[in-house]
Amino acid sequence: AWQTSLRPQRLDDYIGQTAFKNNLKVYIEAAKGRGESLDHVLLYGPPGLGKTTMAKIIANELGSQFKVTSGPAIARPGELAAILTTLQEHDVLFIDEIHRLNRSVEEILYSAMEDFALDLVMGKGTGATSVRINLAPFTLIGATTRPGSLSAPLRDRFLINHHMEFYEPDELKHIITRAAGILNIEIEESGAAEIARRSRGTPRIANRLLKRIRDFAQIKNSAITAEIASEAMEALHVDDIGLDDLDNEILKCIIYKFNGGPVGVDTISAAVSEERNTIEDVCEPYLMQIGFISRTPRGRIAMKAAYDHIGAVWDKKPEEVL
Ligand code: ADE
Repeated sequence: AWQTSLRPQRLDDYIGQTAFKNNLKVYIEAAKGRGESLDHVLLYGPPGLGKTTMAKIIANELGSQFKVTSGPAIARPGELAAILTTLQEHDVLFIDEIHRLNRSVEEILYSAMEDFALDLVMGKGTGATSVRINLAPFTLIGATTRPGSLSAPLRDRFLINHHMEFYEPDELKHIITRAAGILNIEIEESGAAEIARRSRGTPRIANRLLKRIRDFAQIKNSAITAEIASEAMEALHVDDIGLDDLDNEILKCIIYKFNGGPVGVDTISAAVSEERNTIEDVCEPYLMQIGFISRTPRGRIAMKAAYDHIGAVWDKKPEEVL
């Protein structure tokens, strides 16, 4: 599939998250030198920033097999036990949305991660016995948009942690140019810069916009120029700074319906008819990153930059805002 080919396979081809990448090189080389499995890794942050890509690359760099599952896909402890017992030495097991594992499943992970062992209870009541099954030393890579939803015992067993950061426009420009090369898309430097500027710091959005804008360029028999990129993004309802309709509706909701806030996320969710999780995990992280909204104990508030963006009059006194 195209995604597989767009995804870099090696750390040296991965753009961004530079400090973490450099540390990872050390951890991987050192673990290989000792002949041990790499310590468990937790990657957290908003969707589309390359958590899965990073996990796959770690397996490649280790020379290990990569097995993928997700929190919601594992309903019962036995299902996780079946996965864990088939792992081979130094394999990488990737669990996406790891915060959605249920409690009984999560509990068998503790000894699996710490001692590479499964403690299974056979039978019920007074006749129940416990057996310990040894596992091959493996690396668990967990990914989550909500590290706060992991239990402390699970979180503590990840000895390598990284908060995925939004990408700089220059990094996105590099990612777009690389993807355009792979997909044989003609793009001017200014076109790549325009897409980068409007991708909300997110490679997945950059690559999606690239593919849509390519269609607009193609029917004009043109390379992607900054002008064509701008026109296409207007058609795609991506505004001048990369916000989409939902982002803007959230801002207008807080500012016009709730006088700038504070307003609870459930109230916003009902007002804009969007799931609370989407608002919290997808929209809000970037709106906070650019200083448009702020989370307070009493709810969300819109900042002056958000008023300016939607063309509303800022009428707050400083003490009303914080
Ligand atoms: N494609 C998507 N994310 C990428 C990244 N971080 N580096 C290179 N190519 C990518």
